Amino acid sequence: MEDIIEAIERLKKERRAIILAHVYEPDEIQEIADFTGDSFALSQKAAATDAEVIVFCGVRFMAETANILSPDKITLLPAADAGCQMFDDTLESEVRQVMAERPDALLVSYVNTPASVKALSTICCTSSNAVQVVNSLPKDREIVFVPDGNLASFAAEQTDRKVTCWPGGCPIHGRLTVKDIRAAKAAHPGALVLMHPECQPAVRAEADYVGSTMGIIRYAQQSQADSFIIATEQGVLYELTERCLQKHFYLASRQMLCVNMKKTTLEKVRTALTTLEPRVIVPAEIRDKAREALQKMLEITGR
Ligand code: 13P
Ligand code: SF4
Repeated sequence: MEDIIEAIERLKKERRAIILAHVYEPDEIQEIADFTGDSFALSQKAAATDAEVIVFCGVRFMAETANILSPDKITLLPAADAGCQMFDDTLESEVRQVMAERPDALLVSYVNTPASVKALSTICCTSSNAVQVVNSLPKDREIVFVPDGNLASFAAEQTDRKVTCWPGGCPIHGRLTVKDIRAAKAAHPGALVLMHPECQPAVRAEADYVGSTMGIIRYAQQSQADSFIIATEQGVLYELTERCLQKHFYLASRQMLCVNMKKTTLEKVRTALTTLEPRVIVPAEIRDKAREALQKMLEITGR
């Protein structure tokens, strides 16, 4: 283990590389990362870094976003097969068809979409800024939101805007039930429930706070409370326990595990830095249009 970490550190300097890791990644990957965060924080970092190589420890849509925002850098995705159900379910052809039927509608696409769908979009959003993004759009225009129906309904509730939701969603957050939350509350009386907006509306109604993964971490840090039920992917427990040494965290359900986020290993990171493969390259004609939609998001919600 020690040898691998030393090799990664050495190769990182030689390659002038930066390692970015999503907070759902395995603990040992978050430990060696230069920067950890949620989708929004990582896209900000990808846009701002002056490193020559970005090693993205996360899933494909995140590495695509990094490549779109930093096309002159090499973007590596150590776990080449790390996908996301939402990414696979949002077909460009279907989105084109829905938008053709609504010529006046604006298209908001969650970062979990493929680059080709971002390229069709008015603006992108992440779970931390979906409400702000929807609110920024003209009041008299219909909004089509792809692909997470639960996040779309959350943005609609918070903004009182008419949002046409896509029938997609995250299988991990979507599987959490009201029964799970009530059982966790009964097991840990007094603990606050912190939940990701990808959970279903009836389940969200049980939460004390709904927000992105970094939102959840910040809330726990700033709260006077000392115990929390965490309703998102279990990888966040690493950052939560690092930042809040005296507080107690309980998972809302043991089922909250994204296998794709666990595909990165230290060996794969070392191999990626050694071979400069596997790369993620978004074709230029898609990249330029997708970048406009991502940059609009970064302008609205801050770099
Ligand atoms: P965040 O935007 O909170 O990082 O969420 C990304 C994701 O994949 C949630 O399942
Ligand atoms: Fe995709 Fe859900 Fe995994 Fe996030 S947790 S990467 S939305 S499958």
